[in-house]
This record gives sequence, C-alpha cells and structure tokens, in this order.
Amino acid sequence: MKRFEGRLRFEMLAINCALIVAFMHSGTASRCVDHACSPPMGNLASGRTLTTVSGCCGNGSHHSPCPTPLHPCPDHLHPPAHMVDDPFQHPNTWWASGVGTDQVEEVRLDLETRFCLTHVVLLFHSPRPAAMAMERSQDFGRTWETLKLFAQNCSLAFGFPDDTSQHGSRCTSRYSSAKPCSRGEVIFRTLGPGGLVDPYSPEGISQLTLTNLRLRLLKAQTCPLSVAPSTTSSSIGLFKPPADLNLPLLPPPQPSSEAPASAPFAIYTLLARGTCLCHGHAEHCLPHRGGQDTLKDMVAGRCVCTHHTAGEHCERCGPLYNDQSWKPANGSSGEPHPCHKCECHDHAESCHFSKRVWLSLEGTSGGVCDDCQHNTAGRRCQRCRHGYHRQPAMPLNSPHICTRCWCDPLGSLPAISGEEGRWCHPRSGQCHCRPGVGGTGCNHCLPGYWGFGGEGCKPCACPQNCDPHTGLCLDSYANNQVLNIPMGGKITAMDHALTTEGEPVWSKQLAVSALHYTGKCSCKERKLRSVSDLCKTKYAYVIKASVLSAHDKGSHAEVQVKVCKVLRSGQVPLSQGTHSIYPLSWTSRGCTCPILNPGVEYLLAGPEEVETERLLVTMQSVVVPWTPQLGTHISEGLRQGCPEHPLQTHNRAI
Ligand SMILES: *[C@@H]1O[C@H](CO)[C@@H](O)[C@H](O)[C@H]1NC(C)=O
Ligand SMILES: *[C@@H]1O[C@H](CO)[C@@H](O)[C@H](O)[C@H]1NC(C)=O
Ligand SMILES: *[C@@H]1O[C@H](CO)[C@@H](O)[C@H](O)[C@H]1NC(C)=O
Repeated sequence: MKRFEGRLRFEMLAINCALIVAFMHSGTASRCVDHACSPPMGNLASGRTLTTVSGCCGNGSHHSPCPTPLHPCPDHLHPPAHMVDDPFQHPNTWWASGVGTDQVEEVRLDLETRFCLTHVVLLFHSPRPAAMAMERSQDFGRTWETLKLFAQNCSLAFGFPDDTSQHGSRCTSRYSSAKPCSRGEVIFRTLGPGGLVDPYSPEGISQLTLTNLRLRLLKAQTCPLSVAPSTTSSSIGLFKPPADLNLPLLPPPQPSSEAPASAPFAIYTLLARGTCLCHGHAEHCLPHRGGQDTLKDMVAGRCVCTHHTAGEHCERCGPLYNDQSWKPANGSSGEPHPCHKCECHDHAESCHFSKRVWLSLEGTSGGVCDDCQHNTAGRRCQRCRHGYHRQPAMPLNSPHICTRCWCDPLGSLPAISGEEGRWCHPRSGQCHCRPGVGGTGCNHCLPGYWGFGGEGCKPCACPQNCDPHTGLCLDSYANNQVLNIPMGGKITAMDHALTTEGEPVWSKQLAVSALHYTGKCSCKERKLRSVSDLCKTKYAYVIKASVLSAHDKGSHAEVQVKVCKVLRSGQVPLSQGTHSIYPLSWTSRGCTCPILNPGVEYLLAGPEEVETERLLVTMQSVVVPWTPQLGTHISEGLRQGCPEHPLQTHNRAI
C-alpha cells in the first residue's frame, strides 16, 4: 500500500510539474503587470455538488434502500460530497454507489461557467472500474465529448486501440486493473503527455475548457480474492517524489483496516484540478454571479480582469479600450497583449474596433468612439457636430469645446438638406450668409448693401455707401456707419463703439482684424518677375499706394489705401487720394491673402468689380513692396505699351 501511495504522489508531482511548465508565466501575485497571468489552480469539484445516479443511503437520484439484511450498507453514509472533502482531514470518507442497481453509474460535476480543466485524479475505494468513460461538455450539458476511455482491453470494450501500444489513442488500459483492490488511482491529463501547448491559444482553450465533467462507470469488477493486496503491482516504487515540493497530494496511506467495499463503485477522492478561464488576463477570480456563497477553497469562475480587458473570462476589451482587436495573452512568451485605449478626448465612454479603419490606417489604430457627447462628432470625437463650432481657446477634451452656431435665420442660408439647424463653419463659427449679408452670424448688411431681410441685402445704388435700412445714399464717406478700426486698436474701445451704436456685439475673435495678426496667416507669396507679367495677366488696375488702415467687416475686410500713382486703370475711376480695396480671401482663420501691412507702400495690381466700383485683391493680385527702382522699371515698361486688352469683370464670390 505504501508503495502505491508513493507512485501516486509521483504521478501527481509529474502532473504539477507539467502544469508549472505550461503555465510557466502565470500565477504569482502582481504577475499581471506587463505579463500574461493566470489565477491559482484548485479542485473544481471543491464546494460544488457532485451528482450521481445512485447512492448508498446518500444523495443520488436513485437511492438504493438503506441497510437491509440483503443489501448491507456500510455503517455510515457515503454521499457524493465525500469525494470532494479534504482528503487530509477526512482520508477515510468515500462515496459509494448503490448496491445491485443495473443502471450505468455516473458521477457528474456541473459548473456554473466555463473553466479550464488541467487534469483529473480519482482514488477508488472499490476496485477501479473495468470500463469507464470520462466525458466533458462545453455547452452546459447539451453535447458531450469523450475525454478518455478506460478499459483493461480497449479494443474489446470500446473498439479503440490501447494507448500503451498506439500513442495518442483515446483509450487506455493503464488504470483499469482490478488490482489494487483499494486505493487504485485513475489519472487523466487534459493536455496529454508532454502537452506544452500555449494554454491561451485557441488550441489550448479548446482542449482545456469545459462546463461539465462526467464519469460514466460502465462496468464494475471485483477484487481477485486469490491475490493479496500488498503484492500487486510490478512497477511500483521506482521513483521517489522530491521532498521539497509541497504540492497538494492525496493523503498518506491508511492502515487497511477497511472492509472490502460492498458497493460496486466507491471513490475516496475526485480531484478535478483546474482554474478559472481568463485568457492570461487575470490572477484572481470571484464567484460567478448568482453562484452560491463561495467556500474557502472553491475555485471561482468570474475573472478580475487586467490588461484593460473585460467580461467574465476577460474575453473582450474594456468599453473604451477597443483601439485594437482583443487578443489572449501569449502563454509561451508571456506577452500580455493588453487592450489599447481609444482617443475620444473625454467625450465618449466606449468605442468599438473597426477592421476597415484599422486597415485604412495601416494597422496603427482601429477604434471608433461611440456616441460622442458634448456636441462632438467624428471617429475620435475630435470635431463639432453639425450646427456647432469649436471654441478655439478651449482644450480639445473640454466638455464646452463645441458651441451652438448662432446664425440669424433671416440673414443665413438654410442648412444642407437633411441636417437640422443652421450650419456654421466648424472652426470659425462663420455662418453661411445670404448675398450682401455679413457678420459671423449673418445678422447685418455688408457695407454697400441695405435692406436686411429674408432675401439678404440689396446693393446700394450709390458710389459710396447707403443707409443700411432705407438705402438712401449717404453724402460723404465721413457719414457712413462703417467702423474704422485703427491699427492696433483696442478691443475694449471697439466693443464700446459697437454697443453705443446699438449694433450686435461681435465676437472678440472677429473684432480683431487679421491684419493685426498676420502671423496667423500663411500666404503663398507671388513674385513679380518682369513687367510683361503685368501685361500678360491683364490687371484692371496697377497703382502705387500705401496702406492706411484695415476695416474688419466680419465676413470680409476692407482696406483703405492712399493712391500715390495710377499706372493703369480700368472702368472704376481712379485718382490720387484715398480709395478702398477689397481683399477677397477672407479666410475662416480671419486672414487675408496676400498680406497688406498698414504703413507700407506697395505696387498693387488686380481685377475690379465694375457694378460696385470696387478694386479687388485676389490671390492672383500683385502685391509687392514699392521701391524706386521697381517704379522706374514699371513706368517704362507700361509706357512702351502693353497690347490693348478687353477689360474683364470679376464676380465677387464670398
Ligand atoms: C441530499 O442533498 C440535498 C441538497 O443537495 C441535501 O439538502 C440533503 O441533506 C442531502 N441528503 C443526504 C441524505 O445527504
Ligand atoms: C482483447 O480482446 C481481443 C478480442 O477478444 C483479443 O483478441 C485480444 O487478445 C485482447 N487483448 C488483450 C491485451 O487481452
Ligand atoms: C507566442 O510567443 C511565441 C514565442 O515568442 C511565438 O512563437 C508564438 O507565435 C506566439 N503566439 C502567438 C499566438 O502570437
């Protein structure tokens, strides 16, 4: 007997060692940091109810009658729970099947969720079964699959070869001998001998996981009376277990004072060693929800996930961590394969992984934020949704980053069909104005226009400006309502000027002409190479002028220049003195291109708008600082004569 125990101990040590290799990179505390990790192993049967078909005065669906003279039961009860009690504290307790029932006996362990099973060890009180099937279910008992078959003659009992002769066969004769008559063991390893499969790989998972374990005890056998128990095996005692490994083993041998079992099947201990299924992303588990109160040594089934994973088995990424697809850890290399956070700028609580985005970004990021809050939109909640615009001063993750467009319903154009509300530029907040209307919110007429209403504003029928309400021509420039923003003018002064006139207060951003902040603009400079350039491009006007001041009109700019020399003019009358020119490229950043710096003298050449008598400055205009040399050059060139050209008109396009 003693030598049997020694062999059993060795078997279990061997299993434990194999598992230590298989789960080499998992286990101990805090291993999850930058590493694959796994919860501790335990007996999956501990603390759970084992069901059996019959029981001797115990718990089973078919109880045999309790002690009668014909069917004597042992003096005490042998319920299934005795198979999973502590084998050290209760070494001599066992489960016994009913006596004399014809049914196939079975022992079944139903788990509340999926677990990993690494090996099963049975220690029999009765002689081991002559035929037995070990089965698992991975779908809570709907379908079953054979893990291993046990028989003394495999081909006879099951029609399979014996794995002692054919490696890897699903049947074995190793654990079916009638000897020893008691304390014979049955051992099964899920991963097979030398199974160094990565336990987190799909292959490992398919081999290791189960929801139910079932032992079908198909055929009992009796103890061969002629053989004394102590002279049984021939292969025992060859190995001694290493003394320094204190692994949970079965109890030390007991003096064989037990009477031979009267039940056909009797089991001291069922050890279903395994752990909760966490794919390498957890080192602790909690009881499955709705599960019974956990006993101290019960293996719980709900993972406490790390590596930003989530789910009962850490089988998916956390809500905001789907920038890459979920992966199990690598049990071979120990790489944790954590989930990666999506950048949603604090405007979303979850994101999902998109294969399409992942491919389009060449495998750098695939997260798409869900349900962007705070009026944001976009894959990363990085822009404002329709009808809102950005507050440039605020950080991107501010909940107030997006402000509703304020667009005058009269002065602005309706939104693009299908979209609600008025639209404005998502960055500048500039609304889409009707013709002749200006201002960020399209709430007043542009200079030179009047009669603000549902059709926009009408052009003044005067050379200068007209009353914005009546359309009456104003006598002189001095009388008009256009605000003159002095260079370097104070914003406070501006605000004051505006409010006293009862005008809507413009946003600070627009109140400051871009011409003060040319640093904001990057304009492509246009070089004048020769005088013939001026001829070729057929500019309506060519003048020498110095910039006096810039006027910010909200949606466009007006620049006052002092004309010093008229080198060429078109239909708009030009003379020396003050004129307005109109840069067309009033961008959403509040810039004009080309840049006109106040106080600087320029050679200016550009088109004109005949109907409104405006001199325009476009991207094609020539704006070069004036030098006497350039002056001489141009004057001579023009005097020698450009070929006559038809004057062209340019339509304003705002
Ligand atoms: C049988 O099991 C039930 C619940 O599992 C328990 O309440 C009952 O006491 C058991 N009976 C015996 C005889 O062990
Ligand atoms: C198993 O049974 C078959 C058929 O009865 C027989 O031919 C074979 O020799 C047996 N094998 C062993 C190892 O007893
Ligand atoms: C895990 O790591 C090993 C060793 O680095 C490597 O060979 C194997 O391909 C990895 N497995 C996966 C699924 O990445």
